[in-house]
Amino acid sequence: MEQYVIKGGNPLVGEVEIGGAKNAALGILAAAVMTDDVCLVENIPDVRDTAVMLQAIQSIGGTVDRIDRHTAKISGGNIVDQTIEDDYIKKIRASYYLLGALLGKYRKAKVALPGGCNIGLRPIDQHLKGFRALGAKVAVIPGGMIVAEAERLIGAHIYMDVVSVGATINIMLAAVMAEGQTIIENAAKEPHVVDVANFLNTMGANIKGAGTDVIRIKGVQRLHGTEYAIIPDQIEAGTFMFAAAVTKGDITVKNVIPKHLESISAKLQEIGCEIEESDDAVRVVASKQLSHTQVKTLPYPGFPTDMQPQITVALGLSKGTSIVTESIFENRFKYVDELTRMGANIRVEGGSTAIVDGVTQYNGANITAPDLRAGAALVIAGLAADGITTIDEIKYIQRGYEDFHLKLQSLGGLIELVDSEKDIQKFKLRVG
Ligand code: UD1
Repeated sequence: MEQYVIKGGNPLVGEVEIGGAKNAALGILAAAVMTDDVCLVENIPDVRDTAVMLQAIQSIGGTVDRIDRHTAKISGGNIVDQTIEDDYIKKIRASYYLLGALLGKYRKAKVALPGGCNIGLRPIDQHLKGFRALGAKVAVIPGGMIVAEAERLIGAHIYMDVVSVGATINIMLAAVMAEGQTIIENAAKEPHVVDVANFLNTMGANIKGAGTDVIRIKGVQRLHGTEYAIIPDQIEAGTFMFAAAVTKGDITVKNVIPKHLESISAKLQEIGCEIEESDDAVRVVASKQLSHTQVKTLPYPGFPTDMQPQITVALGLSKGTSIVTESIFENRFKYVDELTRMGANIRVEGGSTAIVDGVTQYNGANITAPDLRAGAALVIAGLAADGITTIDEIKYIQRGYEDFHLKLQSLGGLIELVDSEKDIQKFKLRVG
């Protein structure tokens, strides 16, 4: 089984190129099948989740023509089937976007219930409520498939009970070719919601207000082909920014949109890092002892839940006591046990609050990645720790980070991808 093996202690220094946003890519790739023309999509991150999405598109007859590692031509022109079987699609949560896209285009879809990271209950009631409001009949059938069908989709006024990225995007997908106007109130405002809306608009959709909490969609008869480049990944960038903080390094994340990183930059400054912003890059310098703070995860523009493990790893090495409150998912502190095994002093109260007493050093340990973002955060902890850390279950990390270990190596991190005890011994001999 593949693992990362890490020797901590080197400050990470240098520049790193950030790839396309995974969560935007998943919505955009699903949206691309809504036309029979060809969509050229650039800046697709080469990670497991996008590979699964492209495989799903091919499984129903969609055409995927890889131009290079990050570019593909996609067409829904040859789609013969609207059923996505369960075995592999369950691996990604965003499989649900195919439900919205196929329902919107063909008025019917049958997709296996989504999987993804185990970070809480993650219901999809708001997605289904939106589809129903547009006139679809939706049922969950034995075997865990969701079936959505409609004679006609008719625009509706939909008020979301919770701010949901997935439901907002999915309802946009289902509504772009509905008859009349759809209004989504209490919509999510994340950059990837805006990116999917922008993509659909270049295909001929009429979506206004994405990025605010009211999105208005006027249905169009058909969508056409387009060329589009996906925005940079806010969370990949944020992860490297925190890697600088945790390892007392100096990292410039390049090819980013600094505005999307503001809540992350603000917290890094608060805990004692220096931040320099330019048009498409952000530099994080951590030259002094980090200090404590309080942070609560919130929908955009608040501090992202997908950065919660990374900031907790940083606060675990800060002076004083910090409080981290998770307000989006109810089960997102599972990694704390692993971090505690590395010497952190963190107490989780009531499942949603972590009280973090800073320690001066983490120690290397044999640990397991419990999910995607926590896995990445534990890698960073390992890079700061005294001694050797091994991390299992890195398939979670590979779901969302392209070439993670290679990028960390290029910043001076001593990390290797290994798949045997012999490789680990070799690594230990090499790093001394
Ligand atoms: C997306 C991201 C994920 C990120 C999350 C929050 C993708 C593929 N994943 O996940 O990385 O952590 O946004 O920024 O883009 N909820 C309901 N009913 C629903 C839908 C959601 O109650 O129908 C709840 C969820 O349980 C959660 C909250 O709403 O408590 C936010 O979830 P949501 O924004 O939908 O997250 P995802 O789209 O699953």
